[in-house]
Amino acid sequence: MKIVIATSNAHKVQEFRAMLEPLGHSVVSAGEMGGMPPVDEDGSTFEENAAKKACQAALAFHCPVMADDSGLEVIALGGEPGVLSARYAGEGGNDGRNLAKLLGKLQGMEDRRARFVCAIALADAQGRLQGCVRGEVQGHMADAPRGKEGFGYDPAFVPQGYEQTFGELPPQVKNRLSHRARALEQAIRQFFPDAPRGAREGNRQEEA
Ligand code: IMP
Repeated sequence: MKIVIATSNAHKVQEFRAMLEPLGHSVVSAGEMGGMPPVDEDGSTFEENAAKKACQAALAFHCPVMADDSGLEVIALGGEPGVLSARYAGEGGNDGRNLAKLLGKLQGMEDRRARFVCAIALADAQGRLQGCVRGEVQGHMADAPRGKEGFGYDPAFVPQGYEQTFGELPPQVKNRLSHRARALEQAIRQFFPDAPRGAREGNRQEEA
């Protein structure tokens, strides 16, 4: 099945490809469809923003579209940076500055619990929302960035049950347990019930 993913984030496209292609789906990025239409991500939840991106991209591309909105929630900071994850350091910010700001705020704090959250929405070719699912991965923030894999806050996020950060763990491991993998697994089950089952099972087979 051909799945159009409404994101201009190359890292996300790469992750979606790594998770969906072993299941026989082909992933088409927003870039390959002529580029993501401008979407004001002003929702107060990941679900609202994912739905907005999916619906507006489906209208622009005239085909069904799946979109994700994701970010990091740090418990001791009341869920910051949350939906502002991509823009945490403000105008002109980037992954490095966002992470530096966050680690600065967490300096000396004992409670470093955090989770990554991903909402995935599906819109039909007429831009109508078909559904939205959520995946989460719990963990904690390291004191300093470690590793070069992944993107965003990955170098400082240690998933529960591991000692390495997502920046250090091989991509196959992140793609098996990440918030995006968990949301995608639900999305496939809910949105494409006739498709082959289990993104995580597919990746497990790959690892074996
Ligand atoms: P979005 O593109 O509006 O969904 O914003 C996502 C932002 O959340 C990214 O720019 C990253 O800062 C952060 N983020 C989301 N998913 C991940 C991930 O898998 N690893 C690291 N950072 C992530």
